[in-house]
This record gives sequence, C-alpha cells and structure tokens, in this order.
Amino acid sequence: MTCGSVSLPAPLCILQLSYNITQYSPTPRTMFTDKVVLITGASSGIGAACALAFAKSSATLSLVGRNLDNLSTIGKVCEKLNHIKPLLIVADVTSDTDLDKIVEDTANKYGKIDVLINNAGINSVPETHSSAETYDRVMATNVRATYLLTTKRHRTY
Ligand SMILES: NC(=O)c1ccc[n+]([C@@H]2O[C@H](COP(=O)([O-])OP(=O)(O)OC[C@H]3O[C@@H](n4cnc5c(N)ncnc54)[C@H](OP(=O)(O)O)[C@@H]3O)[C@@H](O)[C@H]2O)c1
Repeated sequence: MTCGSVSLPAPLCILQLSYNITQYSPTPRTMFTDKVVLITGASSGIGAACALAFAKSSATLSLVGRNLDNLSTIGKVCEKLNHIKPLLIVADVTSDTDLDKIVEDTANKYGKIDVLINNAGINSVPETHSSAETYDRVMATNVRATYLLTTKRHRTY
C-alpha cells in the first residue's frame, strides 16, 4: 500500500487513515515540542499509533522494535509528520544488553528522555500455550523489561 511517498506493508494499513488526516497539517508547537519520547514496541499496533500521535504533537522520537522494516516505515511516516528524523533502535527488550543500548543510544543522541512509553509486549492464551517457558517469556517482556527500562532511565537522568 502506498501512503503519500511512503509504502506501507499490509499490516500497517490502519496507519493510512491517521497519516492522511495529518499529512498536510503544519507542525504545531505543543507541550511535546522539544520533548524526547521513547516508545518501545513502536514497530506495530498501539506503539506505532503512539509514535504517529507524538510525531503529530511535534515530539522528538526514539523508536524501539525488533522488526527493522516495520520500524523504518513508521519512522518515515513520523518524519513526514513533524520533519524530525526519529532515532530507530533495533532491540529486544528481554535482553539486558539491549535495554542498556536503548537508554545509551537515546542519551547519546538527545541527552534526555522526557517520556517513556513501555509498550512492547506479548500476549498468550493460557489454555493453548500453557507452559513455564511461555510464562517466563511473557513476564520477561511485559514486566521485567518495563521495570528495568524504567529504572535504567531514572538512573541515567
Ligand atoms: N491490542 C489490544 O487490544 C491490547 C489490549 C490490552 C493490552 N495490550 C497490550 O499492549 C501492548 C501492545 O499491543 P499491540 O496490540 O499493539 O501488539 P502488537 O501489534 O503485537 O505490537 C507489539 C509490539 O511490541 C514489540 N515487541 C514485542 N516483543 C518485543 C521484544 N521482546 N523486544 C522488543 N519489542 C518487542 C513488537 O515489536 P516487533 O514486532 O518489532 O518485534 C511490536 O512493536 C502489548 O503488550 C499488548 O499485550 C493490547
């Protein structure tokens, strides 16, 4: 699917509407102008929608995901919206090394994190996927990563 000059893969088609509404709007000065917003899981779904909303609000973005293609697509749409190239960080939030990289790369680029959106997450259906491994994976992604990234961010700033 083509979205202006940006080509969107089918799973991201839902972003078309949001983009069409905003693509010709001037970049307004808002409470997020000059604010750095870090969003995990920004490569799809709710995180991608948050990235577009913050871009529309003139925020400076640091976008995290594992899928570089999807992340790049979202980054291009954000840049069209606010004319600020977002920092794209390919990282797995279940990796401690990657969590450090998320904070360090953002700190090196922008010097601060004003807003942290711990959105990266996975779901499981207990009846069909019940196992200790699934429990560990869900907790590592949804809970442990959220806790660690929040504390790392506070220690840095
Ligand atoms: N959609 C709903 O109705 C709903 C309702 C309640 C709660 N939630 C929760 O809200 C969050 C987002 O939901 P969604 O529907 O937007 O899900 P989604 O479309 O599947 O998106 C999940 C995002 O999290 C990222 N992610 C997952 N595991 C990751 C990891 N280990 N490291 C880095 N990134 C990771 C994915 O990145 P990659 O694809 O790049 O790996 C993707 O960008 C989830 O935690 C979900 O459980 C959703």
